[in-house]
This record gives sequence, structure tokens and C-alpha cells, in this order.
Amino acid sequence: MTKPLRIGLIGCGFMGRAHSNAYNRVSNFFDLEYTPVLQAACARNAESAEAFAKTWGYASFETDWRTLVQRDDIDAIDICVPNHLHREMAIAVAEAGKIVLCEKPLALNTADGQAMCEAVEKAGVPNMVWYNYRRVPAVTLAHQLIQEGKLGRVFHYRANFLQDWTIADDLPQGGTALWRLDASSAGSGVTGDLLAHCIDTALWLNGAIRNVSAMTETFVKERHHNLTGKMEPVKIDDASAFLCHFENGSLGLFESTRYARGHKALYTFEINGEHASIKWDLHDLHRLEYFDHRDESKLRGWRSIHVTDHGGEHPYMDRWWVPGLQIGYEHSFVHQVADFLEGLATGTPVGPTFRDALQTQQVCDAVLASAECGSWKNVE
Ligand SMILES: NC(=O)c1ccc[n+]([C@@H]2O[C@H](COP(=O)([O-])OP(=O)(O)OC[C@H]3O[C@@H](n4cnc5c(N)ncnc54)[C@H](O)[C@@H]3O)[C@@H](O)[C@H]2O)c1
Repeated sequence: MTKPLRIGLIGCGFMGRAHSNAYNRVSNFFDLEYTPVLQAACARNAESAEAFAKTWGYASFETDWRTLVQRDDIDAIDICVPNHLHREMAIAVAEAGKIVLCEKPLALNTADGQAMCEAVEKAGVPNMVWYNYRRVPAVTLAHQLIQEGKLGRVFHYRANFLQDWTIADDLPQGGTALWRLDASSAGSGVTGDLLAHCIDTALWLNGAIRNVSAMTETFVKERHHNLTGKMEPVKIDDASAFLCHFENGSLGLFESTRYARGHKALYTFEINGEHASIKWDLHDLHRLEYFDHRDESKLRGWRSIHVTDHGGEHPYMDRWWVPGLQIGYEHSFVHQVADFLEGLATGTPVGPTFRDALQTQQVCDAVLASAECGSWKNVE
């Protein structure tokens, strides 16, 4: 007999779908003590909430998130709404004594993130933030290789996250689907949206960042605002790049933009160590590129590891099909739910917790502050 974990989901957009898919599939592929039970989905519009609940198998729906949070037939609340709502919702969930899962970035800024950490820690409720790329098997394998010391001393960490969907200057800002262009909903632009993913992975793979020197740019200065109906200044960063020093002595170079024509979601990273280097690319997410200088010289070269083997050597893969058959983007969310449920069963917090995600927030804030003042900023 498994134990039910009754889920209430707030926000029925992109991430609402990705998470619902993960809750639905996880128990088919992982043997876990807890089984997610889709208890209620919440959207502001009753028709959309009802349709979403029906499509994804939720037993009921709500139109007011506060009602959802107070329901005593729900154990965990999953927050999948724009960033400016994370703080208020997460604190209310913690105060109601429920488990809280929250989308990234944790908050609009470090101060809000700190308040959220204090709330979950005071309430003693399990918590997690959906930096899902850690659970792409090739990225998890990169983590394992680094932990095993295969790279030796690390010299360089390089990451990019490139998109091209906001180049048109007649694209409006604000409201459904375009809240990412409105600083009051998003907090920042690509820094909190795209770079935050790169930063979370980097902190996990390569440890803490000491200081940063950044530049940001807003290429289109004014856009029609869907909610006010007027042309309004654009206050998000369209592009953001920074240099940094990691605590382990390595140097970091990060870039994100929504103005890289031809790139839809090109998240890549490369790490160069004393003995070996690794590279990963979201567009080819099941492969990890690896170069080992210790290989016999006549055979030395980059190898492309197809991360689909079984037998526990390639993370998560023995849960899926047969060796050689790959999985995709949505599986990273399934893995994250599986790990979270395993952590609940064993009483071990699973990262990234709110406290882990606060470190990413601190780096994002240092990046924005450095870009603003034009000098190096410590991460604090
Ligand atoms: N982990 C990832 O890779 C990833 C990817 C995309 C988005 N995100 C994060 O997920 C969050 C949501 O992004 P998204 O892409 O799903 O956005 P989205 O616009 O597709 O969906 C957001 C949903 O929230 C709903 N909503 C807004 N206010 C609400 C309220 N008061 N009550 C109930 N519902 C409300 C909207 O109607 C919409 O359906 C953001 O924090 C974003 O940064 C993370």
C-alpha cells in the first residue's frame, strides 16, 4: 500500500501542465512510498480551471488560491504562477502547515526569498524549487563525474541560455503569456528567467560564486502594456551577461538573451578541469560530451556519451525504456517529483530547497546590482 500525497496546484499554464504530467506519470515508472493524488487545480477563471482539472485528472477545482491553501484535504501546494505571486502564496502555504513546491525563480529578489525561507523553516514544512535541469540524466551524470573527481581542479565554467522570441518591437508586455516582459510580475528579465537556471546548475556542479561583474541591456525601451493599454517603459533586462569568481578558484562566464536570432532554448554549459572537460546542450539533452586528457593519446578526443544505459550507471535511465532509447524535457520534472517523494519517505530534504534557491537569487541580485553600478559586486 502506498501513501497518498494530495496535491493542490496553483496556475494552469506551461508549468501547471509540466508538473501535472509529472505527478500523473511518476508512480508508473518509480516505486515510491508516496503516490501523488491530483486533488484540486486552481485558476482564476472557473471555466479554465474546470477544463484543466478534467484534462489532467484533478478531482476538483478552485478559483481562489487562498481557498485551496485552506482546504484540509490537501497535503502539498504547488505554485506555478508568475514570480510576483510566489512570496505571498508560499508564505501562506507554510503558515497553513502544508508542503510547498514552488516554481523558479524563488522570488522577485533576495529579500522576498529570505522571507520565504524563514516561513518554511519556521513552519518546518518540506519545500522544493523546480530547477528541473538538475534532473536531466546527462546533467545528473555531469554532477556524478565531478563528485568522483574526474575533472580534477576546475578552471572554467561557461554557460549560455539563448532565445529569440522578444525581438519584435511591437510585441506587447504584461498579462497572460507576456508577464515575463513586465518587471512588476517577473522581477527581472532574462536574469531571473534564463540565467537563474544556469546559475542553479552552476552552484550545484561547481559550488558557490563569490563575486560578479555584469552587464545588462534592454534593447526595446517601450512596449504597449496589455493591462494599462498604454505604451510603458520596459523595465526588464533583455540580455544579461556576467563574469564571476567561484569559491573553488575557477572563473565563470555566463550569458543569456532573448535576442539571439535562431535560438529557441539553447541552454549550454562547458566545464574545463585539469584532467577533463564536459559539455552539455539542452537541444541534445540526452548526450554528455566528455574529453579526458588521461586517455591513450592516439585515441584521445571528445566522446559523446548517449546517456541511456541501465544498471544504475546512467542516472534515472533504468526506470524508463531499454538502453539506447532516449527520454526528453518532461522527464526532468518526473525525476524531480520522484526524488521529492523519496525524500519525504526518508525524511531527507531534497534540493534545491528554498534555502538552496535563495543562493541563486543572491547571485541574480548581485548581477543586476553590478550591471546597474558598472563594478564588481560580492554575492551576499
Ligand atoms: N522550471 C522551468 O523550466 C520553468 C519554465 C517555465 C516557467 N517557469 C516558472 O513557472 C512559473 C509560471 O510560469 P509559466 O510559464 O507556467 O507561466 P504561464 O503564463 O504559462 O502560466 C501561469 C499561470 O498562472 C495563472 N495565474 C496568474 N495569477 C494567478 C492567480 N492569482 N491564481 C491562480 N492562477 C494564476 C495564469 O492564469 C496562468 O495560467 C514562473 O515562476 C516561471 O518563472 C519555470
